Amino acid sequence: MTNPSLLILPGDGIGPEVMAEVRRVIDWFGDKRGLTIDVSEDLVGGAAYDAHGVPLTDETMEKAQSVDAVLLGAVGGPKYDDLDFSVKPERGLLRLRKEMDLFANLRPAQCFDALADFSSLKKDVVAGLDIMIVRELTSGIYFGEPRGIFTEGNERVGINTQRYTESEIDRVARNAFELAMKRSKKLCSMEKANVMESGILWREVVTKVGEDYPEVELSHMYADAGAMQLCRWPKQFDVIVTDNLFGDLLSDAAAMLTGSLGMLPSASLGAPMANGRPKAMYEPVHGSAPDIAGQGKANPIACVLSFAMALRYSFDQGAEADRLEAAIEQVLADGVRTADLLGEEGVTPVTTSEMGSAILAALDASL
Ligand code: NAD
Ligand code: IPM
Ligand code: MN
Repeated sequence: MTNPSLLILPGDGIGPEVMAEVRRVIDWFGDKRGLTIDVSEDLVGGAAYDAHGVPLTDETMEKAQSVDAVLLGAVGGPKYDDLDFSVKPERGLLRLRKEMDLFANLRPAQCFDALADFSSLKKDVVAGLDIMIVRELTSGIYFGEPRGIFTEGNERVGINTQRYTESEIDRVARNAFELAMKRSKKLCSMEKANVMESGILWREVVTKVGEDYPEVELSHMYADAGAMQLCRWPKQFDVIVTDNLFGDLLSDAAAMLTGSLGMLPSASLGAPMANGRPKAMYEPVHGSAPDIAGQGKANPIACVLSFAMALRYSFDQGAEADRLEAAIEQVLADGVRTADLLGEEGVTPVTTSEMGSAILAALDASL
């Protein structure tokens, strides 16, 4: 049997810092569990721009298309703010998503018991929280045409277009229903059908797909009300399906329910490949965190949990993914905290690599 292949794209800012800890975790699984992964590494974002003048080269794009999974750190940063829009670091990430056709972005928000006190919401609102946001990732206002900055009369106008075809809504909805079937059979779809035609179509198509999943209890909510309900009583939700932009906003909000953006992983999945597994890229929800980059403060957990999702969805290693997630839960229960997780008095934060070492120690203890 050939080894699974993984392309690592650390990117910018804290991306390489958190990825260094993931590499230690990958080595651990090779040494201690005989799980050998063929890892290759390449540049994306500002790092690729610095080396090649583009945020993603065609060669890297081809590599991403040929591996079993991609793991990306983060892209972007103030150094690149003034670049032309076409070569901004974020464009590299968007190209990967679009060309790999990764239409379903799974963003779980789970509140670890040890962090329930730390959330900015009351403990009983978040304790035990376990929801999954399915964000459409390759269409909507991020990609719709026309787009651009144009001149109209004596002023400029910035244009983006929200556009969804029935088939784009259908496929992400099916993905969400399938997930709901494996979880608590509850799905809430969020759009703004009260003000947007694309929302009306979204609601219609999701309802139609729902006819194929009679066991799933389907509800609809306007996305603004959904944002409010996510803060008021998030445990009313299990799986949420929504469009690209609403999903971006709602998942950042959901991240804070769990304590920190530094905790939230994600999987971006496309159609099945020849091996039956979906085309996939895994990435933490957070960005390059320029405010703390280079200081050893970044929390590597979101990126490590993203690798756990790769183990589960791309490498057919659900039991090892469970082991890794349990190790992280243990480390948090032991009170190990990076600076973003400080809530309790008298706790000294650990560095990024100390958090990595604590995870490895918990993995050792799991044997
Ligand atoms: P951000 O997620 O980088 O940071 C927001 C806040 O959360 C910051 O205070 C940061 O210090 C903190 N934070 C984020 N991740 C953390 C971690 N792992 N540990 C500890 N603290 C963490 O969002 P931003 O500041 O809005 O964006 C910065 C840059 O990142 C921008 O260029 C943006 O476009 C880019 N970005 C990239 C991605 C991605 O690559 N997937 C995602 C979001 C933002
Ligand atoms: C995310 C990010 C990206 C997005 C940016 C960096 C392109 O915010 O992954 O959530 O808007 O999708
Ligand atoms: Mn985002």
